Order: sequence, then structure tokens, then C-alpha cells
Amino acid sequence: MSDKIWWYLARSSGIVAWLLLAAAVIWGLLLSTRILQDRRRPAWLNDLHRWLGGLAVTFTALHLLGLWADDYVEFGWADMVIPGRSEWRPVAVAWGVLSLYLLVAVQLSSLFMRRLPRRVWKGIHYASYPLFWMATVHGGAAGTDTGSRLYRWTVVVTVVAVVFVVTYRVVAPSRAARRRAQARAARRTVAGPSGDGVTAPETPTRTIPRREVRTAESTRSAPDAHPVSTR
Ligand code: HEM
Repeated sequence: MSDKIWWYLARSSGIVAWLLLAAAVIWGLLLSTRILQDRRRPAWLNDLHRWLGGLAVTFTALHLLGLWADDYVEFGWADMVIPGRSEWRPVAVAWGVLSLYLLVAVQLSSLFMRRLPRRVWKGIHYASYPLFWMATVHGGAAGTDTGSRLYRWTVVVTVVAVVFVVTYRVVAPSRAARRRAQARAARRTVAGPSGDGVTAPETPTRTIPRREVRTAESTRSAPDAHPVSTR
């Protein structure tokens, strides 16, 4: 068996863990934005997001096991939990240690999601964004494979994909809010403030005859409150 096997394990599992992390972030965003939300989707699509996060944790554990078992660089468990303690590239490794903390926090809080107040869970879950960037910096600064063209292209394509979906997530709600506002205005045009036929200022005017829209409710509550003549 090659004596470099642990080193290969550390490198390959680090890269796989990072890719799984990126996939979990992208998948989570696809589920929470309208890209997938408007369509009927089977339950396994939701579970996939959780699975990707869980697998990222598993491959990170393999990453640490590889580093610990490899004897080219001395890595004790303390070097893996105390940021800056490693003698080998302390700053680059510290980013990895900090990402590990966030990864564990996000994963644990998701496991206990039902027991946590929604706001707390959400706050922790949003740490996935800094987690992804910290792990990206860590991989780029600590990794042996950053010299490889394949590695660099993989990182570029993955980062562009994450940035694209995050941007969509940030921009999309404002469009949705605009659509909601339009729908509200359209409803107002039809119903009027008390159910009478009126026009909303921001929408194309359509005046509805009183008879068409008057409901029992509006008749009872304010029959003459809005003397808008539609004739
Ligand atoms: C306690 C936490 C961590 C420690 C101590 C640590 C340490 C290291 C070290 C020493 C390397 C350099 C390996 C080499 O190329 O020889 C490395 C590379 C790497 N790590 Fe970590 N890491 C940690 C957490 C993470 C996490 C959470 C991720 C991602 C989810 C990650 C992803 C990577 C990647 C992608 C590489 C580059 C691999 C390569 O280019 O060969 N690491 N890490």
C-alpha cells in the first residue's frame, strides 16, 4: 500500500466535501426560490438537500482522518479544533477549522430543527453562506491541488453556479413582491375598498358595474359608503 494513501484520502475527501457543500447550498436555494417552488415536486427532492449536507459532514470527517493518519505533516486533533494552532499554514488551516464549526452547527441545528424556534434555526442555517466561502478560501489556500487546471476550473464553475443562484435568490423576491402588489391592485380594481366598482390608480382602469361585484357583505356593512356611480 502506498504510504501516500492517507494524503490522497485527505485531498480527495476535502475536494468531495467542498463540492457536496456547494451542491447542498445550490439545492437549498433552488428549493427556496421560485425555480422549483412553483412546481409539484416529490418529497425526495427535499430530502436530497439534507442528504447532501450530511454527506459533506461525512467527507469532512474522512478529510480529517486522512490528515491525522498521514505522517508527512504532523496533525494532532488539537490542530484540527483550535484555529491557528497548526504549524503548517496556520491561517489557511484556520479557515478550515472555522468552516468545520459552522458545518457542524448547521448540520446539528437541522437535526434538531423541530425543537428549535424557527428564527434560531434559520439564523444558524444562514451560516451556510459564510461556511461555503470560508471552505472555498481554505481549499484554495491550503490545498495541494490548486495548481491543477482541473481543480481550478471546477472551483470557478462551482463558484459561478453558487453566485448565480444566490443572486437569483436576492433578486427574485422583489419581483415576486411586485407581482403581489400588481395582484393586490387588480383585486382592488375589481372589488373597490368596500366592494363597490372602483378603479385602482396604478392599474389599467376597469370600472365594474355595481351589480356585478356587490356582495352580501358589502351591502350589509356600507351600502352607500362609496357613492361611485358606474353608470
Ligand atoms: C478542522 C477542519 C479542517 C482542517 C484542519 C483542514 C485541513 C486541511 C489541510 C491541511 C489541507 C491541505 C491538504 C493538502 O493538500 O495536503 C486541506 C485541504 C482542503 N480542505 Fe480542509 N481542513 C478542514 C476542514 C475542511 C472543510 C470543512 C472542508 C470543506 C467542506 C475542507 C475542504 C478542503 C479542500 C477542498 C482542500 C483542498 C484539497 C486539495 O487541493 O488537495 N476542509 N484541508
